[in-house]
This record gives sequence, structure tokens and C-alpha cells, in this order.
Amino acid sequence: MNRRTFIKLSAVSVAALMTGCGVEEKTLEVKFLRQIVTKNISGKRLVMWQVDEPLQNLSVEVSVNGDTKIFPAQDASFTDDGQKRIQYAAQIDSGDVYRIVDGEAATAWHEMKNISGDDFKAIIFSDSQCGGGYDTWGELARQAIERNSDADFFVDLGDIVDNGEDTTQWEDWLAQIKKFAPQIPFAPVMGNHETYSREWTVRTPEAYLNYFATPDNGDENFSRRFYSFEVGAAHFAVLDSQWDELGREIIDAQKNWLRRDLSSTDKPWKIIFIHKDVLQYRINGRPERPEGFSDVGKIFMPEFESLGVDAVFTGHLHTYRNRGRLKNFQDDEKGTLYILSGLSGNVRYSGLWINHALDKTIAPQPETDNYLVLAGDEKKLSVKCFLPDGELIDEVTLKK
Ligand SMILES: [Fe+2]
Repeated sequence: MNRRTFIKLSAVSVAALMTGCGVEEKTLEVKFLRQIVTKNISGKRLVMWQVDEPLQNLSVEVSVNGDTKIFPAQDASFTDDGQKRIQYAAQIDSGDVYRIVDGEAATAWHEMKNISGDDFKAIIFSDSQCGGGYDTWGELARQAIERNSDADFFVDLGDIVDNGEDTTQWEDWLAQIKKFAPQIPFAPVMGNHETYSREWTVRTPEAYLNYFATPDNGDENFSRRFYSFEVGAAHFAVLDSQWDELGREIIDAQKNWLRRDLSSTDKPWKIIFIHKDVLQYRINGRPERPEGFSDVGKIFMPEFESLGVDAVFTGHLHTYRNRGRLKNFQDDEKGTLYILSGLSGNVRYSGLWINHALDKTIAPQPETDNYLVLAGDEKKLSVKCFLPDGELIDEVTLKK
């Protein structure tokens, strides 16, 4: 019996036991149930969900080897876009299955993937923003997850939605992932579109910051703006590149935090997720714009390299580019691997970019969506890039 089968049987068995005890249960309906990564997802999970009316006695019941534990839920409601979202969050221990409970009402049991040992696996999406509904995002995400149902977590490298204030977009994005978001933890990365208001001005990204209660970074000025977590043999730091939109004060705060954060881990692999890319591309029709390095690259590439970062994943440009390993702003086989992920939504920049001298592999043009699978253990790190139909178009392996 494999692990997944066992988990499914456990869930059914627990439910059957409850019914056998004569407990008459009502069904509790919740929306947008999801797991968010915690500092160490092998031991703890953060579960969030929304309901239509406030509830007083919500908790989460976790079953581990047939024993159940109860964890209280906290109110995490917020108002944005003129609408109050009644939302709850609970930090729970990892287990086999969990469900949300309110008095005698309960949701169905949901599986929790067991995460242990040195190996790790993630599915990385980017720029899931869509125009006219999020079906493209939903289809790509579901197919990628079906092909990689053993993933420990999934990532969106930012520009999760097109307009960061628009409730309908957030709810469409969340509804598209309802099949797997309760089971597989999510690691969000904020993009510039998360900061856009209905009027397309910039503002504090209220919806992003409230939908995703990411791990505490210890900086009260920039809570939830950057964070880190660990899975298996890897340490992941998620950075915020929106200083043009939200203020440059975050640059030094983030640099100082990153130095402390990366020097305090003993994990062999150090990996960065950040929305805006490190290179600057020439653009067709704009000859005044030179090829080079972006503000993000100029500020953070020396940091990444001096801190021993193994791989950096970026987005924002809606095109897949593998630049191989760079150090001192040039090719270096001992340098950091820089991968620019393409899009997972339907906003395409066909024919916009002129290839950069540091590009090693480029997705077939005109470009469709793609997703990445990042996997590894103590000794090996593998990055694969796939088209929506599952065709592998690029692969990189690093070894320790
Ligand atoms: Fe962007």
C-alpha cells in the first residue's frame, strides 16, 4: 500500500469511526481552504479559510495515526475592495488528515502530505495574472499538480492576480486551486500587480498580505513582505522586489535580514524566490533601452553570491530563460544559478524581449505557459521546465 492510499483509507476510517459513535454531524461549508508554508512544514502547517457568516467555535481537528488533536482557529478577517472577508487561520501540527470543526458541524477530512527526510520537491508557477477569468491558470495548475502529486509545496513567483485589489480576481484564483490547495502548502511571492488598486495606482497590498499569513520575519515594518522556510535539505528565502512601488526602505531591511537568515541555516541548499528579474532586456521598438542588469540584479546579485545562494528563481517578464550560473555579473561555473520562469496565466508579451547575451535556454517562441519542477536532496538539485502539455523543454542539475 503506498502512502497516498494509506492516507485516504485513514481519512475514511476516522470518518467511519465518528459515525459509528453515533455522532450526528452536520456538514460545515468553508471557502478557499488552503495551507500556507510555515518555517518548517514537516512539523507545522498554517491553514486558512473563509466563511460567509462569522462563527464562534471554530477549530481544526488533526488526525495522526488514528489519534486526534484539536487546534483553535483565530479570526483573520479583513476588509479590502470595500468588502469584508470573514476569514480564519489556524496553526496546526502536521498529521495524516485534518478538518475544520464548528460545534457539531465539520468539513470533510483533507489529506496532509507527509514531509520528512532530506528530499524536497516543489512546483513553481509565475505570473498567474489573467484577463477575463482564471481558467488558464486553473488548468495549468491542476495538470502540473496531477503530474506531480508528490510535491511538498507549490510557489507562485508573483503577479498572482492582475489587479491586487479586485476581489473577483482573488476569488477566481483561489477557486481554481480548490482541489489541491487544502492538501499542498502554498508559498506566495508578492509581485507588482499585487500592489495595484482598482484605479491602477499603487497601494499597500492589503489582499495579498491578508490572504497569505506567511511566516514571521521578525521585522514589524515589513511583516509578511519577506520570509523564509525549510523543506528537507533546502532553505528557501522569499524576497519582495516592489521597492519602486512601496518604498526603497525595504532594500536595506531585506539585505540585513537575508544575511542573518542565510547565515543561521545549516541546510546545504539555499534558494531564493523573488518576483522581478535580475537582468535588463532590450525591448523591440525601444532602442534607447540597453541590455544589462536590472535594479534587482545590481542590488542583490552580489549579496546572493557572497551568501552562497545556489539558485534564484524570478518572474515578471513572462518568458522562460535559463541563464546558467553567474558570478560577478558574468558566466562562472561556480556561480549562482539564475532561472527566469515564464507565465502561468494568459497575459503574453509576444515578441517583446530581445534575447540577452546571458540567456542559455529560451522557451519555444511565440511563448505559451510553463511551470517548473524543483526537486532535490542533500547532494543534488534538479530544475525542470515543462510546457502545459507536460513536454520537458529544459533541465538543469546542480551537485554538492
Ligand atoms: Fe510583474
